[in-house]
Amino acid sequence: MKTRSLGSTGLNVSALGLGCMGLSFGLGPAVDKQEGIALIRAAVEKGVTFFDTAEVYGPWMNEELVGEALAPFKGRVAIATKFGFAIDQVTGQNPGGLNSRPERIKAVAEASLKRLRVDALDLFYQHRVDPEVPIEDVAGAVKDLIREGKVKHFGLSEAGAATIRKAHAVQPVAALQSEYSLFWREPEVEIIPTLEELGIGFVPFSPLGKGFLTGKIDETTTFDPTDFRNVVPRFTPEARKANLALVDLLRGIAARKGVTPAQVALAWLLAQKPWIVPIPGTTKLHRLEENLGAAAVELTPEDLREIQAASEKVQLQGARYPEHLQKLVGR
Ligand SMILES: NC(=O)c1ccc[n+]([C@@H]2O[C@H](COP(=O)([O-])OP(=O)(O)OC[C@H]3O[C@@H](n4cnc5c(N)ncnc54)[C@H](OP(=O)(O)O)[C@@H]3O)[C@@H](O)[C@H]2O)c1
Repeated sequence: MKTRSLGSTGLNVSALGLGCMGLSFGLGPAVDKQEGIALIRAAVEKGVTFFDTAEVYGPWMNEELVGEALAPFKGRVAIATKFGFAIDQVTGQNPGGLNSRPERIKAVAEASLKRLRVDALDLFYQHRVDPEVPIEDVAGAVKDLIREGKVKHFGLSEAGAATIRKAHAVQPVAALQSEYSLFWREPEVEIIPTLEELGIGFVPFSPLGKGFLTGKIDETTTFDPTDFRNVVPRFTPEARKANLALVDLLRGIAARKGVTPAQVALAWLLAQKPWIVPIPGTTKLHRLEENLGAAAVELTPEDLREIQAASEKVQLQGARYPEHLQKLVGR
């Protein structure tokens, strides 16, 4: 697999990473631990060197899984994790609030180092901007951790452009991780130009539109009661029915190129900028192979023009977050 550079602080990773969240959290029940470990190790064998987790995935369980799975590959892969939710440090309960106070960031770093079984966190993102803590203080805390050798690179997730600029002025940001795909293109307005100007890499999360762009979800699909998509307005049966127009477009291009809709969705992201590294997630080996195959799919300028023109005609239905979570993004 080819590699890409994220930002100007020397973070080089495989062109596609693996989003590990869904192995433990958010999209239904956690997978069996040994199966999760096997999937992550299969990704390493196939050339993936970039793995995404967070303190809040579980909480803790996903970091522990990723740490155990990647222990034999220490130093050969990069693990990104995230701080910023107010997880009870004793019980591991997540009441849903934020906490990016500097002392908290430092405590989470120590705990994540242990769970991930590494000497330094390759990429440490603030998961959501905390309005109670100036971003300069957050960047300053991560700068201290970098100076101490406990963190290698700093990242932000779902931050607004002004916050990105302020943080970058204190400690260069290697990457922003925010939602971006043919299902959610808002970052094109202000975020991507800001990243380009500042030389910051972009890691699109939910690059398959939380599975919707693969063509395997329609209005009749039912999700496990613990699946986050049950509360996402964009995933109501009515919204899904309307949004299938976008999937039809991907299907058409995929059929012509002899690839799959998921591969077109990922290849489209890779074609946007050479400093974009999507992190699709899956719990299934055959889908991992399919998704990684996207790195070899070349979309021609004509394919890209066709996708642009056709997607402009699709009016996507439904917000990407319920209201209480929407408030946490773009600050
Ligand atoms: N920073 C943040 O706030 C944030 C938010 C969300 C996610 N993330 C990160 O981004 C990663 C990816 O995002 P995501 O999991 O939300 O969405 P995604 O990668 O767009 O989609 C994952 C979903 O698609 C399905 N899928 C994957 N490949 C498929 C294929 N080839 N064909 C059919 N279905 C397929 C998966 O189901 P199966 O498991 O059944 O294959 C899963 O339900 C996460 O793992 C996490 O690390 C970060």
